[in-house]
Amino acid sequence: MNRQKSVKDYIRTIVDFPHEGILFRDVTTLFADARGFRICVDQLLSPYAGIPIDKVVGLEARGFILGGAVAHQLTTGFVPIRKKGKLPGAVISQAYALEYGEAVMEIHDDAIRPGERVLIVDDLLATGGTASAAIELCRRLGAEVVGAAFVIDLPELGGRQVIEALGVEVHALCEFDGV
Ligand code: PRP
Ligand code: MG
Repeated sequence: MNRQKSVKDYIRTIVDFPHEGILFRDVTTLFADARGFRICVDQLLSPYAGIPIDKVVGLEARGFILGGAVAHQLTTGFVPIRKKGKLPGAVISQAYALEYGEAVMEIHDDAIRPGERVLIVDDLLATGGTASAAIELCRRLGAEVVGAAFVIDLPELGGRQVIEALGVEVHALCEFDGV
């Protein structure tokens, strides 16, 4: 039977990257395909059509590609959350746990005004550490986080539960087992 490819079908898996034993879910093959990128962006934003959103917040690095396209389509502003030391203006910072050690994400302290409604966008939800830090940063600026949208959820790592425990609804286009 002929079936149109789904978002998941466009994602390539690279074995043993960046370390032995890791299955890397590579979205560059999704982004490189005209139809793939179109349906990906359309599906990412579909739950939010008609909901007031002031800013889309994209998480470095692939969240910039997706978030920019979503913001354009929703006619909202776009705000980057970056790894420490990359943003030029005054920032607020939030540490989050990595597998080994911790990392820090930052947002410009004037990027969101109190009361603004924001949508967080990233390519992948794993442990939820990155997205939790992003939610915290947005809330510290007084934002209302209306949702968090991802292309991929890795359910074995439990990120969805972590984000939902913060009171934010998760929207993911596909899941992969095996991490
Ligand atoms: C990956 C991915 C998410 C994050 C998810 O980014 O793009 O942003 O990990 O993991 P978590 O849910 O366990 O926090 P990574 O930190 O590898 O950096 P990059 O996007 O800059 O490549
Ligand atoms: Mg990332």
